[in-house]
Amino acid sequence: MYKTESISAIVSLIFEYGYDILTSDRMQCELNLVHHRHFNCFEHSLSVACVSVWIAKKLNITVNMRSLIRGALLHDYFLYDWREGTPGDRMHGFGHAQIALKNAERDFEIDKIQEDIIIKHMFPLNIKPPRYRESVIVTIADKICATCEIASFICKRSDVAQIQRYLIAHKQFKKASTA
Ligand SMILES: [Fe+2]
Ligand SMILES: [Fe+2]
Repeated sequence: MYKTESISAIVSLIFEYGYDILTSDRMQCELNLVHHRHFNCFEHSLSVACVSVWIAKKLNITVNMRSLIRGALLHDYFLYDWREGTPGDRMHGFGHAQIALKNAERDFEIDKIQEDIIIKHMFPLNIKPPRYRESVIVTIADKICATCEIASFICKRSDVAQIQRYLIAHKQFKKASTA
């Protein structure tokens, strides 16, 4: 998707604006929270930040880069294992954006753009549309990353070994029938 030189440029921007978030104890806890099966919440949030910066750069969109990156890194900062249930009454899909914002406000200084990114990132599931271009970008990047992560899960689940066995058997059958 992105060129090698643009990856290092994106990573340096993420380090410049999000280093304190990435190295914080609670964000590090996300490494142990499964998000989309083979991807933990930390990896997912980092991917969303990378793709958000990539979209902004690729489409030449003027953004507040600091807010874009910090909002992307914190958009799923809900800090619980959603497979064990959601704190509060609401279903994870509907409620986690609010919990993520509450946690982010407790642990970091959040501006209006970051607040909008976190609270609106589940649009259209949560019906209020994103207000800023940064929020629109993260909402799109989140969907792209989630789709790729789930797609890779489906690929891993498809039994490649079974396909290989089938191919070998097919080859042997062909060989036997032509002998
Ligand atoms: Fe989310
Ligand atoms: Fe997400």
